[in-house]
Amino acid sequence: MTTLELNDIQGYLIRGYAHMMYSRFVYLQITDAEATKNWLAKSWKTMTTAEHIPKKDQISSTHLNIAFTYSGLEKLGLKTDNLGSFSREFRQGMVSPHRTRLLGDLGNSAPENWRWGGPFNKPIHLCLMVFGNDKEGDDDIEKDKIVCINYYELLKAHFAGNGLEEILFIDGQTQPENKEHFGFRDGISQPIIEGSGRVGPKDDVIKAGEFIFGYKNDFGVYPDTPLIRAEQGNLNLLPPDAEGSGLKDIGRNGSLMVMRQLEQNVKTFWSFMNEKTKNEDHSINVAESLKLAAKVIGRWQSGAPITLFPDKDPGVISDINDFGYAKFDKDGLKCPFGSHLRRTNPRDSVDDHGRKESLKLSNQHRIIRRARLYGEIFEGSPVNNVPNGEVGLLFCCFNADISRQFEFLQYTWANLPKTKELYNDPDPIIGVKEKTTAGEEQNFTVQDLPVSRTISDLPQVITVKGGDYFFFPSITVLRFLSTI
Ligand code: HEM
Repeated sequence: MTTLELNDIQGYLIRGYAHMMYSRFVYLQITDAEATKNWLAKSWKTMTTAEHIPKKDQISSTHLNIAFTYSGLEKLGLKTDNLGSFSREFRQGMVSPHRTRLLGDLGNSAPENWRWGGPFNKPIHLCLMVFGNDKEGDDDIEKDKIVCINYYELLKAHFAGNGLEEILFIDGQTQPENKEHFGFRDGISQPIIEGSGRVGPKDDVIKAGEFIFGYKNDFGVYPDTPLIRAEQGNLNLLPPDAEGSGLKDIGRNGSLMVMRQLEQNVKTFWSFMNEKTKNEDHSINVAESLKLAAKVIGRWQSGAPITLFPDKDPGVISDINDFGYAKFDKDGLKCPFGSHLRRTNPRDSVDDHGRKESLKLSNQHRIIRRARLYGEIFEGSPVNNVPNGEVGLLFCCFNADISRQFEFLQYTWANLPKTKELYNDPDPIIGVKEKTTAGEEQNFTVQDLPVSRTISDLPQVITVKGGDYFFFPSITVLRFLSTI
């Protein structure tokens, strides 16, 4: 049984801080590496660890975590040989011709149009994640906001003196019922990291090495961790490579973090559902519109899975996640093969693989999602779909292998329009919608009897506005980085 070194792992990865309803993600550049290292030498201790469990009656708490881009580590002074031991995806970053094609960042979502992380933006070196909570157990976001922003102002007063320049920040929020802007309860299905202390269905328990360096992964081996190949800094601080290479491990208890700012086009989403289900007199058929949207997501707005509740939203907020498709829904008649849920985690039903093999395959592509909402708090529906200003999801996920986990999900499972069951259907939420060379529109197919229904002309409902790959180091490594 794995025991995680919780006091060395930054908390956002394991805990998610759902009770911290207000957060500020601050993207910074290092202007003076020596000053930043001095700051790190003092601040590594202030980073919230996974061991920190808020006390029930604790009033007003704040959390702080930090992550670096490749160019941030370079700017800090990590030697080329050491930088070279990070994975190719992290070294290249989110924006390269190959990666842009793979992720489907085209048209309005092209990196040239991004606000941050793109070729025309100032490079980001690090991200400070600032969280605030006024009182555990009460859902007053306005009070949490004050705590968060006060803490941020305190930190900000020292940015310049610490060799840091703020490029931009994005404020993140969670809603009491954890609904995203299209109006669906989110963040229900998460892998349970072995050794984290969380319990849940055994099919969801995933080896820690899928997400955290220094522990064995689902293949029974250690993930490819970055190692120190050229001596620098106080190496006595670092643990040895668990694999036994004799090199010091800079990855242990750290992870790789993917961040993408995804604007949600709520009106486009609901107009599409309304249009495809309208009554004969062209009025909105609210029940049918909601049903189609639930088919697209894979859950009702309450969070209830349509595999278990195929006809109607039971209406009570639901966290039900202990289900598969093989037994209850092998033909996709309840939850379509093309739904966002089934594509991003096909669970025990991957093509013709049996139940056991499918689960194994699905679990090799899991991610820990840590998204926050940005823009006004807004819960879309068929009749309420025009938010004030831009709204979206600051998508964030953790994985130890960006290529096999996040990128595989986005490219193979979400973007590819052809699968065994589907002909021209990308993921209806996050898949890239491109007309084929023959000019065919893309579809969403609802498996049905006697024949499947094709819902045509799938619109693009999200636009990528920024993004980057980050290294989310351990507390020990933060301390080490201050000595390089
Ligand atoms: C604005 C963009 C997005 C929206 C509105 C959205 C919405 C949702 C919702 C409502 C759920 C169901 C709640 C749950 O099961 O936890 C869900 C699940 C999920 N989403 Fe997304 N999502 C978005 C982006 C992404 C991206 C970019 C990825 C990865 C590339 C992703 C991967 C997943 C995964 C893995 C699940 C859980 C599937 C399962 O285990 O059954 N989502 N999403």
